Amino acid sequence: MEDKYGAHNYHPLPVVLSKGEGVYVWDVEGKKYFDFLSAYSAVNQGHCHPAILEAMQSQAQTLTLTSRAFYNDMLGKYEKYITDMMAYDKVLPINTGVEAVETALKLARKWAYTVKGVEENKAKIIFASQNFHGRTLAVISGSTDPDSRGGFGPYMPGYEVIPYNDLNALEAALQQSNVAGFIVEPIQGEAGVVVPDAEYLPSAKALCEKYNALFIADEVQTGIARTGKLLATCGNCDCTGLCERKPEVRPDILILGKALSGGVFPVSAVLADDDIMLCIKPGEHGSTFGGNPIACAVAIAALQVVRDEKLALNADKLGIIFRQRMQALVDSSDLVTLVRGKGLLNAIVINDSPESKTAWNICMKLRDNGLLAKPTHGNIIRFAPPLVMTEEQLHACCDIIEKTIKEFA
Ligand SMILES: Cc1ncc(COP(=O)(O)O)c(C=O)c1O
Repeated sequence: MEDKYGAHNYHPLPVVLSKGEGVYVWDVEGKKYFDFLSAYSAVNQGHCHPAILEAMQSQAQTLTLTSRAFYNDMLGKYEKYITDMMAYDKVLPINTGVEAVETALKLARKWAYTVKGVEENKAKIIFASQNFHGRTLAVISGSTDPDSRGGFGPYMPGYEVIPYNDLNALEAALQQSNVAGFIVEPIQGEAGVVVPDAEYLPSAKALCEKYNALFIADEVQTGIARTGKLLATCGNCDCTGLCERKPEVRPDILILGKALSGGVFPVSAVLADDDIMLCIKPGEHGSTFGGNPIACAVAIAALQVVRDEKLALNADKLGIIFRQRMQALVDSSDLVTLVRGKGLLNAIVINDSPESKTAWNICMKLRDNGLLAKPTHGNIIRFAPPLVMTEEQLHACCDIIEKTIKEFA
């Protein structure tokens, strides 16, 4: 039915899911799988988390949508909760990841004109190559991926793309006096879980400060405990599952989405301090559904789960075990050449070309063996299970991956 009645804008792995709970999903025939994608890191808290569902159901029976034409009794509570937790003055609530990115780009331009004094319509945003920030026209205009961009021009002016993980290129770009900001993923998820050098993010932030441009972190995929810290831009503080608010790299604008709702509802957010956020005035930006009462209730519950269940610590601990197990596979198999990642955002690189079908074929075998994952390229498979996984379950998953790779070799 999807093939016949739906647009062909996706190429799903052939499995039809009808139920999810925790780290598991079931297909329509009742076969159980480990979910090793978590809806692209949206289901960090596990499928159908009871506390999040309870918050959603209870709010849905009380008040669902007021629009921002009126106040509602949930939005302020949520705004206080998330700004306390992430340590920013203000949040702008919106729905999807790409809308939050658009919001951040608009905010950066507004700041450039009203605070930095850039000449009207001359502001520039710097992007990193191989980025993925979503699918709208403004956002694909900063993409270097031919599939995302091709055939959708003309593109948004006022952008410049520099290589990822290249501080010299960033410094050269920032020397232009009309730069509003630099938008970057702390780890490039869609590009294949590309982890930059350790000094990249702090140095990039320092360069932005030096040249008076905003450092904009897109943590839609890396945020909310996925990489073993509340945010991938957090420093090496000794937090016990919570950010101690001493990030080594504090973005001027922080973009969150996906797991902000535990994957039950589209909820995204842009966070910044007053000197930036208050550049946008009433009537200048918004969304009918942004900050709706259900989203607020869901997001508070989803963030509380991250705290209560210490998901950042669990992701950190399990990530180390996962990479150790995959490294053993790299050492013993010619088919896998590399494992990389942080926390529970990891990928393995297969010994074949980016255009090959090998990663897809391995994912088909993983499916047959009870684990669902998806390639990001012909030779890269991303592994991102829900963060509520136990150590025992993780070992069972590593056994499946090992067995599948060995069968394949
Ligand atoms: C880093 C990043 N930014 C933005 C997005 C877009 O989010 P959404 O699909 O909710 O629009 C994604 C989605 O994968 C992402 O990974």
